[in-house]
Amino acid sequence: MSAQKIGIVGSGLIGRAWAMLFAAAGYRVQLYDILEAQVTTALAELQQELHSLECKGRLRGNLTAQAQFALISGCTSLQQLVQQAQHIQECVPEQLELKRQLYAQLAELLEPQTVLASSTSTFMPSRFTAELKCKEQMLVAHPLNPPYYIPLVELVPAPWTRPELVERTRQLMLSLGQRPVVLQREIEGFVSNRIQYAILNEVWRLVGSGIVSVADADRVLSEGLGMRYALLGALETAHLNAPGGVADYFQRFGSEISAVSASYGPTPNTCEELDTLADIARQCEQLTPLAELEQRRAARDEFLTRLAALKRQQQQQ
Ligand code: NAI
Repeated sequence: MSAQKIGIVGSGLIGRAWAMLFAAAGYRVQLYDILEAQVTTALAELQQELHSLECKGRLRGNLTAQAQFALISGCTSLQQLVQQAQHIQECVPEQLELKRQLYAQLAELLEPQTVLASSTSTFMPSRFTAELKCKEQMLVAHPLNPPYYIPLVELVPAPWTRPELVERTRQLMLSLGQRPVVLQREIEGFVSNRIQYAILNEVWRLVGSGIVSVADADRVLSEGLGMRYALLGALETAHLNAPGGVADYFQRFGSEISAVSASYGPTPNTCEELDTLADIARQCEQLTPLAELEQRRAARDEFLTRLAALKRQQQQQ
């Protein structure tokens, strides 16, 4: 029996990452892009990337780079892409109107067995699937960048998404070696961005009011809180931090947590506080000049690969 077919719409950064994840697990992947040349470039770069990962011993899955690449092909129409697809992962730019138009087109083509999942990091699924035919086959499957190294995928159903298709998508993500979480209902920012924005807002306020430098604010995460968060979430961290577990933790520290939280002040307006933005940008660029961003990204990926291996090792113990 030939492998199940996965369609990917949009062959940019995230589309390519999904292609690699699906091929690593042995799925047949078709890539589509509004720019045909983009698919050609994507295929050439994927081939190179898979071989480079294989040389470094970092390739995911049990297949060789060549066998994984053989599972990936390009296609030139949405119609061809949807034919006999089990799952379609949409990865077009983050523009609501663009997604709305694309979903309206896809709704006319979708076969009954197909799940259509969006990689969107900001739009709740109801914002671009309402009133469409087959809207119950659509949901959000939001990865974190870089998906090849970070296993989290947030599954966000619209009010009309069929629960069994959410579960099927969860199983599909597990089969890739990703770690899906399922939101019971949609909410702005999903969960990861809500937490990330809460942190960004407080870091912004602390740096903006001159309490810490950018380097020190980031160090609090990379050398402190983040060390634990690579293993434990916020609640399990609390659970381990009091003799009687989490209930004891909040009994002991709850009033202090509320008092500090009440002093945070209003949510910063990061588009209008231009002096703070200029200061943050200046400090960030001193730490990592713009010309060195690519190098720093490579260092991040290298570190995440090792961290992922360590976590896998721990899970096997
Ligand atoms: P990108 O700009 O790298 O790639 C988008 C691709 O879509 C381009 O190749 C473009 O030619 C193609 N495209 C544009 N309109 C199209 C259409 N109508 N039909 C088919 N293809 C079309 O964008 P990127 O970064 O890959 O983002 C894709 C999605 O993934 C967005 O929704 C984004 O929010 C989400 N995402 C991005 C992350 C990131 O860090 N870049 C992380 C997690 C999710």
